[in-house]
Amino acid sequence: MTGPARDPDPAAPPSGYFEVDRSADVVGASFATTTDPRLREILQSLVGHLHAFVKDVEPTVPEWESAIAFLTATGQMCDDVRQEFILLSDVLGVSMLVESLNHAAGGRLTEATVEGPFHMVASPERQLGADINVSAEPGEPCLVTGRVVDQHGIPVAGASVDVWQANARGFYDVQRPNEMPQGELRGLFRTDAEGRFHFRTIVPAHYPIPTDGPVGDLLRATGRHGFRPAHVHVEVSAPGLRTLTTHVFVAGSPYLDSDAVFGVKQSLIVDFATVDDPVRAASIGLSNPFRHADFPVVLRRDERAGG
Ligand code: BEZ
Ligand code: FE
Repeated sequence: MTGPARDPDPAAPPSGYFEVDRSADVVGASFATTTDPRLREILQSLVGHLHAFVKDVEPTVPEWESAIAFLTATGQMCDDVRQEFILLSDVLGVSMLVESLNHAAGGRLTEATVEGPFHMVASPERQLGADINVSAEPGEPCLVTGRVVDQHGIPVAGASVDVWQANARGFYDVQRPNEMPQGELRGLFRTDAEGRFHFRTIVPAHYPIPTDGPVGDLLRATGRHGFRPAHVHVEVSAPGLRTLTTHVFVAGSPYLDSDAVFGVKQSLIVDFATVDDPVRAASIGLSNPFRHADFPVVLRRDERAGG
């Protein structure tokens, strides 16, 4: 049996008033009018976590002001080619978390990693076997081979394999426009009938992420370095298959276990073996000895799409 309805406590403040103890509930409730359910869920969760964080660290007003100044400077650093907020997300491990949650690999599937800021120009289309080191940058000659298959092991013919990398001094073409022609160390290849691809290049070096902005200040203030281990970026796509954005990391490179953007996954570290075989080197157009990396790629076929 229910008793008579109780009158609200006249001493209690109206529920929409701000109170520290109920701050997340009060602010979260203000978003209850959001008609898009996903937006409402995201905002109410954000408010809950943000208020818990503020109560945890109890920032002083000057600390809050410097956080605002930091975010303002981060925004001011952004332009058409520089995205300091993504860089911030990268060094906080958020980019990798989003990437990993959205591209759960599992089974034989090739793991994904961050795209990074240097995929900003289209890679030139090249024939299989081409040398992406078009202007003979100094460096160790290297052959990269691979085969694209789906999760059932069926080869993917005609898949697009887009690669881009730094040179042996750790620079991308877009960072050294006066020294490196655009398209240097980039290539867009199509796999053959058996799903295979191969190209020539040089072994890339490890390099620092851009540290001339607020993210660099953050790294310096916290004693963190800004280096990434040596890698070749690879983006593989084909109709009916999930596009994969990943890296081939050079085994033995410095910073594999302390990547500034947390992009390394063990399955992506590949042995760039030294090959001392003058006949083979001559047949593929590389000087001897050369390095060889083989990177098998397993893409997820979207079964529902029937592709
Ligand atoms: C890159 O590998 O190109 C990269 C990734 C994240 C931040 C900076 C650079
Ligand atoms: Fe990179």
